[in-house]
Amino acid sequence: MKEREDALLSEAVPLLLEWYRLCRRELPWRENTEFYRVWISEIMLQQTRVEAVKGYFLRFVERFPSVEALAAADEEEVLKAWEGLGYYSRARNLHRAAKQMAKEGIPQDYAGVRALPGVGDYTAGAICSIACHLPCPAVDGNVLRVLTRLFASPVKIDGAKARKEFEARLKEVYPPEAGEFCQALMELGALVCLPNGAPLCGQCPWRALCRAHAAGEETKYPVRGEKKERRIETQFVYVLRCGERYALVKREGTGLLAGLWQFPCYQTEQVFAPVLATMRAKHVFTHVEWHMTGILAEVPRETPSFMWATKEEIKTKYALPSAFRPFAVWLE
Ligand code: ADE
Repeated sequence: MKEREDALLSEAVPLLLEWYRLCRRELPWRENTEFYRVWISEIMLQQTRVEAVKGYFLRFVERFPSVEALAAADEEEVLKAWEGLGYYSRARNLHRAAKQMAKEGIPQDYAGVRALPGVGDYTAGAICSIACHLPCPAVDGNVLRVLTRLFASPVKIDGAKARKEFEARLKEVYPPEAGEFCQALMELGALVCLPNGAPLCGQCPWRALCRAHAAGEETKYPVRGEKKERRIETQFVYVLRCGERYALVKREGTGLLAGLWQFPCYQTEQVFAPVLATMRAKHVFTHVEWHMTGILAEVPRETPSFMWATKEEIKTKYALPSAFRPFAVWLE
């Protein structure tokens, strides 16, 4: 059985590489395989779509063109460049990792890359394959979809078991073109082997090999366990204006949006008068959904428990998480 599976994958590898050379997208981080660019792009691409990352990536590497430039920047500046990308601990870890690399040098093997702040198994695999040309599989949800369909594998993809299993299989067949192979698997998942009943099997280099396709059961895979419901939280967001300045507070150092600036935000309604406008908005995080009521109020003095900033300062200096963006229309 194992031999048959290995043979299937061995046959699949050159077909995939050939397809990738013909069909790959030109993406800004594919211009070269310099460690710095690959690392930045892979961190940005964690939980974020390629289209959303492109502009951020180009601006970021222009603003901070090297490990040294990033290490020398202020954290607030780095967070500002990250504003809107979400999952801000990524930006903080990126900054910490840059400082570490500026001192100790760029790691040259999997263990060293994996030990960088913010780098998990998948990202370490991707960086090592693309930038260091090492046979290190990078298996995420997209790659699991592609591979469970190829093998018609009923393994549940939620836990670590499926990932480990496919990493081991990929390791056996990793070609010398490690970076191309790694990105080809991602690209097949992004362009052809699409989720939710929409795979474009007619365009797939594996259409003659894919067991799910042969059985007409592409959409049966991947198999998932039970999904957890998102928790819903009510938030009252206060845009408090005093003359030309607005109240901001720094979130706590741990948890969701840790340490970022925001408008004062409470789970129960507060009294600030006079209220000038209200607005509802919703923001979906991975495990929580915020149902927000925004309240614009004029206050008579700048309470010292808040930090007071002008619209211009909020625009240029403080990273305001996307959840609060709808209320920024009130800034004058
Ligand atoms: N997703 C994660 N890494 C990627 C890459 N290098 N290219 C395209 N999509 C990706």
